[in-house]
Formats: sequence, C-alpha cells, structure tokens
Amino acid sequence: MLVPDNIVEDVKNFISMRTGIKFNDDKTNSLKELIKKRLEYHKNKVLPENYRLMLIDKSTDEYRQLLNRLTNHETYFFRNKTHFQGLKDFIIPQIIKRKKAEEEIIIWSAGSATGEEPYSLAMYLKEYFYDNNLARFKIFGTDISNEAVEKSMIGIFSRRSFRDPSNQIFMDKYFIQDGEFFKIKNDIKNMVIFQTSNLMDGEYPLADTSKKIDLILCRNVFIYFDHDSIRRVTDKFYNILHDDGFLIVGHSEAINQITDKFQPMILGDTFVFQKTITKKSTDSFLKQLEVRPLSPEIVLKSKELDREKEKIKESRELRVGLQIEDRLFEEALEDFNYEHFNKALEKVEGLLKINPKNEYGIILKANILANERKYDWSERLCKEVLEINPINEEAYFLLGIICIEKEDFTSAIKYFKQVLFLNPNCGYGYFELAFSFQQLRLYSESLTNYQNAITVLKSNSKSCFKTFRGIFDNIQLIDFCNFNINQIKKVYRG
Ligand SMILES: C[S@@+](CC[C@H](N)C(=O)[O-])C[C@H]1O[C@@H](n2cnc3c(N)ncnc32)[C@H](O)[C@@H]1O
Repeated sequence: MLVPDNIVEDVKNFISMRTGIKFNDDKTNSLKELIKKRLEYHKNKVLPENYRLMLIDKSTDEYRQLLNRLTNHETYFFRNKTHFQGLKDFIIPQIIKRKKAEEEIIIWSAGSATGEEPYSLAMYLKEYFYDNNLARFKIFGTDISNEAVEKSMIGIFSRRSFRDPSNQIFMDKYFIQDGEFFKIKNDIKNMVIFQTSNLMDGEYPLADTSKKIDLILCRNVFIYFDHDSIRRVTDKFYNILHDDGFLIVGHSEAINQITDKFQPMILGDTFVFQKTITKKSTDSFLKQLEVRPLSPEIVLKSKELDREKEKIKESRELRVGLQIEDRLFEEALEDFNYEHFNKALEKVEGLLKINPKNEYGIILKANILANERKYDWSERLCKEVLEINPINEEAYFLLGIICIEKEDFTSAIKYFKQVLFLNPNCGYGYFELAFSFQQLRLYSESLTNYQNAITVLKSNSKSCFKTFRGIFDNIQLIDFCNFNINQIKKVYRG
C-alpha cells in the first residue's frame, strides 16, 4: 500500500511535537517505510488517513511500537570514559560533601535506553564509594521506549554492551556469564529504578516532587531533538535540579548555545553543566584535575562570536582605505590561497612586526608553517593565539588538523570537540571529529559525527575554514562523509 506524503508529514509533526524528536530526510523516509509496514501488520484494515488516530492515545500498543522503532537505543557500559572519570573524581565527591551524612543523593539517567548508563553509575558507586552508605543513592533510569526499559529491567547484555576492553574488571565482578550473555548481579540491579517516560511530558521519575535531583545524565538524547524541545527539557531539568546540581549531556550536544541557565565547565576534554557554581569547591579542585569553569565573559563571548566576526568583517569592508595591518593580511591571505606560500609568509611577517599579537596573522603564519610540515612551530603559534584569545576556534581547529597529520587522533578529538563547543555549526569540525574516531576504529562515534556533519553542511551556505590542506566546499565534504560512512558499514558487515 502506498502511504501518501501528506499522511507521513502529519504523523511526523505529531511525533515531533510529542517527543521532541526531529526528522531529517533519512528519518522521514524511514518513517514512511515504518508506517507502510505497520499498515501491512494490521493487514491493511486501517486506511493510511486513519493511522494517526491510532497514535493519539499514548498508552496504545501502536504508539509504543512506533516509538520503539523510531528511537535509537545505541549505548554501552561506561560510554565516554571522561564523564565517568569526572563523576568519580569530582562530581560525586562534590555532591557527597554538600550533603548531610545520610541525606539521599538522587541521580537520574534520562534517556537510559537499555540501561547500560545507570548500571555503569551503580557499578562506579559500588566500586569507588563503598565506604558510603550506598542505600542513600537513588538512581533512576527512564526512557520513552518501553521495549528498552523492559530490557533494562531484565538486565541481560551481550558483548556489544562491553565495547571498551578496559571494563573487563567490572564485567568479571558484577555480571554472571551465561554463554554469550551477561546477567547483571542483583546487588547492582537493585540500585536502579527504571520507568518508561517521555522527557517532553514532564513526567519526572520522582513521586515526591519536593525532592530535588543532584545529578542528571541526559547523554546522546538531544542529538535527536530540535532546539525548542531542548530548551523546554533543559528548563525542566533546571527546575528539578538541586541548587548546585549537575547536568551532563553528550559530547556533541553543546546546550550552552541553546540555554544560558547553566554554568558550563570543562572537564578533561568534555563539558558538564552546573546549575549554580560553588566557586570555592571548584577552585580547590582545579589544582588536582584538568577541569576549568568557563568564565561568564567567555561563555558570552562564544555566543557573540559569530555576530562579532560579522561586525568586524563588515566594518573592514566599509572602511575606506584599509589600514596597513589589514591590507597586509588581505594580501598575505590572497597569496596563501593561490599557494604562493613564501610570499604569504613574507607579508604576514611584515604584519606581525607591526602588531605581534594580531591573531589572524599568527593563525595564517601557523597555516603556512603547517603546510611546510613544520608542525611543532605551527602548534606553538596556535597555542600563542589561545593565550591571546582562549576562544579562537581556528586555533583549536588547526591544532586538531596537526594532530591528525601526526596521527595523534586522541588529541585531535579533544581539539575538534572544543571547536564544536565554540561553534556547533562547524560542519567541517564534525567531519574531522568523525574522521579521527574512524581512525581509532570507534565506528559508532564516527558514524554519529559524519551524520552530524552532513546535517550541518546541508543547512550551511558556506564552509567553515580554509586550512593549509586546502579549501573544501560543503558538497565535497558531504561526499567524503558518505564515502566514509559506506566504508564503515562495510567493516561492520564484514
Ligand atoms: C542513543 S540513546 C542514549 C543512551 C544513553 N544515554 C547513552 O548515552 O549511552 C538515546 C535514548 O533516548 C531516548 N529518547 C529519545 N527521545 C526521548 C524522549 N522524548 N523521552 C525520553 N527518552 C527519549 C531513546 O529512546 C533512546 O533510548
């Protein structure tokens, strides 16, 4: 049976409004196929135009079946080690310190899929905070998919859930192996309460709403949401969090571009958000670990960055008779674009003699040097720029590219994440991040970021950066993404 486009559109809008899930072209096509299959399942007794009526009641099997198939439940134990490291070394100790001895500590894994995330938390608590009364920790796991929640409650996992071999000790200690499967032991299982719930509905995991939550993990959920829905959900998170409570989102979900209610902090190579920052405690922590709170000016600046850049550009264009510094830069850039690197270097050095702190000049020089494979020198210049302006995304980007050239993909990932934090619309940044993950054979992260790159590149009219590697336009980059996605899929199939 053919499903007319207007019916698909109608169901799509309905699901989007209810769940926050956004639909790109691929997802819309999958929805069309799905509706077709569901109608066939009902032996075509339901007409396409009546299908949406079957979804109105949230408790119907049809609504659940559709959501189970539309949501992506990809997850694994201890996903993103930096988050868990930060939880162990900083966040949980902070929460414990703030509380009275026996006071409850409430943790919510929102969008917990098949349960690996809240169970990882439970194992961490048992392993590293055993001298606390563990009964005071209440961990909730919720997901919109009832199928995923049922799997979480059963607590039986395949090897796929233990992707990272460094987790072997947890596997041995907290699971009972049965053939190809691993059953979580009851002491860990009993630490987590699961529930089916839609983040957009405001159904929160506590019957007693006067109790505030200390920590919310909502990782790799917002990537499927539109901006308005993210704002709506983060507003609710804000209201339900304790005054000093923490929110952790996925690495590519820079919510600070959407809401300014939270204080972002850099934790290793990733970001966490706090409702209000307890400055004293954070300062003492700074000495021990690589975490730094972003000062409000920097956050503000990062938001204003694009506008500022536009303004600078406009004023540069409007000014009659460019100042000598600007003129040298424009000329050097032109030489660079024509690959006249010696000439470009001469001009840029002239410019830096006049103003040694000209960020644009230093970055251009760094690009020229990188082109000559003088990576260490180029790297030093990028770091010099970051001393002058800690939010110069081009410096982070070039540092990432240099790491790729040096085949240090782990550091490259760190830099590209920083680029994307400063500018989530950088399609080229997602591309390079995906590429770095691919080199490390972290295929799931790689695929997600290639998809992000395609989405952003399709919606952007211009590409982000020219680097010493050349200028790529969006269409070329999208082609590269699709090519690499196919390569990865071949490996998966193989
Ligand atoms: C990719 S998984 C992430 C699992 C886990 N948080 C992690 O990072 O490994 C995303 C989960 O979000 C859930 N989800 C999507 N929209 C939701 C909504 N509106 N309310 C609750 N859960 C939702 C999906 O069902 C899916 O299980």
